[in-house]
Amino acid sequence: MANLAEADVKQKVRNFYDQIGWREVGEGVYQNARYEDLRPVSREYIHRCHMRVMQHFKPEGQYFLDAGSGPIQYPEYLEYSRGYRARVCADISIVALREARQRIGDRQTGGHGLFVVADVANLPFRPGVFDGLMALHTIHHLPIEEHRAAYSELYRVMGGNTSAVVVNGWDTSLLMVLFVSPLRWIRRTRKRAQRYFGKSTSRKAQDDEEEIIARPEPKGTFVSKRNAVWLQREIGSEIPLEIRVWRSVSVRFLRAYIHPWLGGRWILRLLYWSEERFPHFFGKYGQYPLIVIRKGRIGDRVKPVNVDD
Ligand SMILES: C[S@@+](CC[C@H](N)C(=O)[O-])C[C@H]1O[C@@H](n2cnc3c(N)ncnc32)[C@H](O)[C@@H]1O
Repeated sequence: MANLAEADVKQKVRNFYDQIGWREVGEGVYQNARYEDLRPVSREYIHRCHMRVMQHFKPEGQYFLDAGSGPIQYPEYLEYSRGYRARVCADISIVALREARQRIGDRQTGGHGLFVVADVANLPFRPGVFDGLMALHTIHHLPIEEHRAAYSELYRVMGGNTSAVVVNGWDTSLLMVLFVSPLRWIRRTRKRAQRYFGKSTSRKAQDDEEEIIARPEPKGTFVSKRNAVWLQREIGSEIPLEIRVWRSVSVRFLRAYIHPWLGGRWILRLLYWSEERFPHFFGKYGQYPLIVIRKGRIGDRVKPVNVDD
């Protein structure tokens, strides 16, 4: 059972999503999308990364679990469960579930959604009931002591011959450190130069440049992230998992380096091609891994998978 501090964290996370994260700020766009790069230049790459998730699911089945579903905020998300009889959206935010119902519908409206207020670390489902499962950007909202419980719960409710996909960010990504650190240096140098030579650019122009160069990620709610070594040691020793790439670059990277006038679309095509070629390398050292959990036939012995490039 969660202790008081853990319950407090969850309450804060729930309040955040109920009051801020899932507030609509534009047509079909939630405040949460501020964490995403929605510019046309990045659209194709982001779409293809979303579609990667689907490769790991059976095309059809009975029940599909979307743990921490949010409002099913991107159109690609609707595709994942198209071949399933029902998609069970489980979330601690009631606002998320209400919005999800609008998007996917329920039996009364001819849709295939079912909606359950539930904690991913303590799922109210029988063992083995799901044919497809995912938890996207959700487990990182749990206190670190509960990550293992969340993975175990997903594993428990998976049916035989089934895969689950978990996407989270790493706490640090070697690739992003290499690319994003110079941005800080450029910013500091520019500030020093401005102090020394006096301000030559207008306030507005400076603000725009800062936005492009090193805009910090917007502040959100509680998250706890770790690295690949931690995941393999703490979770992979008990549950068979494979670390692949979901998306190797952060939004900060995209906003700083990817622009139409710099051939951004082509850079992203090359990046996507490289990620497909070396999914384990980019999964480990990029920003966002796609963690595949596989369950064999019920009764098979569990053998943890350890993938080293
Ligand atoms: C960053 S959003 C991601 C939503 C969606 N999976 C996506 O990728 O767009 C995180 C979601 O997880 C939910 N969440 C956070 N902690 C949770 C928990 N312990 N159990 C279930 N859902 C949780 C939040 O309410 C929120 O809707």
